[in-house]
Amino acid sequence: MNQDELKQAAAFAALEEIRTFAPGAVIGVGTGSTVNYFIDALAASGIAIRGAVSSSEASAQRLATHGILLVSLDEIGDGLLPVYIDGADEIDPGFSMIKGGGGALTREKIVAAAASRFICICDASKKVAALGRFPLPVEVIPMARVQVGREIVRLTGGVPRWREGFVTDNGNHILDVSGLIINDPCALESDLNQIAGAVTNGLFARRGADVLLVATASGVERSERPG
Ligand code: A5P
Repeated sequence: MNQDELKQAAAFAALEEIRTFAPGAVIGVGTGSTVNYFIDALAASGIAIRGAVSSSEASAQRLATHGILLVSLDEIGDGLLPVYIDGADEIDPGFSMIKGGGGALTREKIVAAAASRFICICDASKKVAALGRFPLPVEVIPMARVQVGREIVRLTGGVPRWREGFVTDNGNHILDVSGLIINDPCALESDLNQIAGAVTNGLFARRGADVLLVATASGVERSERPG
């Protein structure tokens, strides 16, 4: 199986989670190529959901194309989505992740925070022993880009690179930080959150995944966050 087929298999496995945990509900939907497979599979499955809160304009457009109702977070009755389905760029054994390769990290973090269950769907290449080989995306207010970059170097020793020409759905810029040694993802996530002008960083550790559906050549493995 190639990587796209693995992504598709993980996305397909997430349908069972919707059947179990969110029939008839509003669900949270992430962003990326794996999620695109999920959106298409959901539409084809006939599973009835009330609608979806999207983490990006791209996913919103795809959901709308399939006739899935788009719901804003403000409209969610008790403030909680039963599930949030999203991919990852890296996921470690404690289910902390690096996300934001597609630049949707801020809205992803917002929708994930409103969900009672984060279901991560990915192919096996995303599983790592320690986070940090994938450059960590940090969304920044454009006027603060250089200043935030300097502060990241001072704080972490990492090397920030401007994702030139890319503008997020929120009108901001992205720095991709390489060369990080991430021993404590929660601490680094919090530290980066303190930098003035940094909107969000792509560490999803304080709110990691609850369930992992990882596609391998021999099938999709389901596991729950350890501890
Ligand atoms: C989007 O900003 C990201 O967080 C994606 O969830 C992540 O990059 C995974 O993307 P793929 O499913 O395309 O690998």
